[in-house]
Amino acid sequence: MGRNLIIPGGTRVIDATGKLVLPGGIDPHTHLELEMMGAKTADDFYTGTRAAVAGGTTTVIDFVLPQKGQSLVEAYNHWREKADNKVCCDYALHVGVTWWSPAVAKEMQQLCSEEYGVNSFKMFMAYRDTWMLDDYHLYIAMETCKHLGALPMVHAENGHIIARNTEKLLAAGKTDPEGHELSRDEEVEAEAVNRACVIANQANSPLYIVHMMSRSAVKALENARPRQKQPVYGETLAATVGTDGSHYRNACFRHAAGHVMSPPLRSDPDTPQAMLEALADDCVQLIGSDNCTFHESDKAKGHGDFSKIPNGVNGVEDRMSILWQKGVNTGIMDPCRFVAVTSATAARVFNLWPRKGRVCVGADADLVVWDPRLQRTISATRHAHAVDFNIFEGQNVVGSPQYVVVNGRVCFDDGDLRVVEGFGKFLKTPVMSPYVYGGEAPKARTPEPHAPSPRLDFPARVTNGTPTP
Ligand code: URP
Ligand code: ZN
Ligand code: ZN
Ligand code: ZN
Repeated sequence: MGRNLIIPGGTRVIDATGKLVLPGGIDPHTHLELEMMGAKTADDFYTGTRAAVAGGTTTVIDFVLPQKGQSLVEAYNHWREKADNKVCCDYALHVGVTWWSPAVAKEMQQLCSEEYGVNSFKMFMAYRDTWMLDDYHLYIAMETCKHLGALPMVHAENGHIIARNTEKLLAAGKTDPEGHELSRDEEVEAEAVNRACVIANQANSPLYIVHMMSRSAVKALENARPRQKQPVYGETLAATVGTDGSHYRNACFRHAAGHVMSPPLRSDPDTPQAMLEALADDCVQLIGSDNCTFHESDKAKGHGDFSKIPNGVNGVEDRMSILWQKGVNTGIMDPCRFVAVTSATAARVFNLWPRKGRVCVGADADLVVWDPRLQRTISATRHAHAVDFNIFEGQNVVGSPQYVVVNGRVCFDDGDLRVVEGFGKFLKTPVMSPYVYGGEAPKARTPEPHAPSPRLDFPARVTNGTPTP
C-alpha cells in the first residue's frame, strides 16, 4: 500500500470495483489435527487452513491441548511439528492448562517467553474426566496468567452437573444425540460463565470466555461485566448464529451426531438472532469457528451412548459467509462491525495488531476481496475441508470472498483455491497485549481522510464461484 507506487510491468491487476477489500479473517478458535474422545479430527493443519483460506480467513489460532500430566512445552513442540510444514496461512497457538502442578506454572512462564510466543491459556470447567480444572486450580491458573500478562480463556460449563445428568439420562435409556443437549442445558453454561467471572475478579485478571452458545450465557456475562475489575471478552461461534439445536432431534443418527458439540447448539429458536445482536451490541466481541471436525465413522462411536460422540463441528471455512448472510444482509450489523468481530478485535486481543486485522501500510498483505453479491450454496460435496459433513449443508449465502491474498500471494483466485502447503508461518503473540492490559498501543499510520462509504444494498448475483479443493 502507498501513494505513487512504482508498479513493474506485467504486474497482475485485480479490479475490486463494487467489492470490499477487507483484512483477512482471523479465526481465534480452531482444533486442527486434534485427538479427543478416542478420535482424530478429519481436518489437519493442511486441509483446515486450506478451508480457512477458501472462506476468507488468513490466520487461525489453534489450541495446544496437553494430556493430563504431559509437559505443556512438550505438547507445544508437538503442535509446532504437526503444523509448521502444513499450514497454508499464518497461525498462532493458545495452550490448554488441562491439569495442575507447580511445574505447570513454570511452563506457562516459559511459554510466554520470546522464544515460544504464547499469550493465552485455555482452562476447562467441563470434560470432568480429562481436561477439567477445579475452581481452586482455575483460580491459581488465572492468577498465573495475570502475573505473566497473558489472557486466561475458559470453556464455561459445569462439568460435575453434566457428568451426573449424563448418568441419569443413560440410565433412563436416553442414549441418542438429543441426550447430549439435555445433559447440559443453558443454566449449566450460564452458571459457569458467572463463576468464571467471579474467579477472574478474585484474581484481578482479564478473562476470555470461549464459545458462548446461549442467551443465558450472554445474560450472565452482561450481569457480571459491570462488576469486573478487568476486561472480559466473549466469543461466540459461526455454528451458533448459523444453525440450531433442532438437529439433535433429527431421526437420522448421522445428522444428529454431526451437530454434537460443547456447549451444545440450543433449541431456543431465538438463540441465533440473540447471539447476532450480542455481537452487534459489543456484549460479545468475537466470532470464532471452534472448527473440530470428525468423520461420520468417528461420530458413530457414540451410537447407543451420546456421551461417546466426539464433540465438534466445522466452521473455519464458512464462518465469514455465515456471519455476512445472517448479520450483515439482515441489517443487524454493518460491514465495519463485521470486520471487527471476524478479524480486527482478535488481532488486538491476541496482540497481533496492526500487523494482522488491519489494512494499512506496514501490515501483512492478508487481504480479502469480498464480493457482497456472490451467492453460493454450502455443501460438504464442495467444501475445502477433509470432513464428510457440513452443519450448514444446503444453506444459501450471499457474500463470499472472490480473491484471498495470503502474505501477498493470491491463494483463492475467483473461485479457484491455489494454496501452498507450508506457506504459512507461526506467529509469536507477545504478552501484555495493550488492548487487554492497557498501555501504549503499537504505532500505526493515521489513515487518510476518506469519502463516506456507499450504501450496501447489493442485489444477489449467482455465480459458480465455489471452491475447488
Ligand atoms: O465441541 C467442541 N467444542 N469441541 C472442541 C473442544 C472444545 O471444547 O472447544
Ligand atoms: Zn471448549
Ligand atoms: Zn440426515
Ligand atoms: Zn474449542
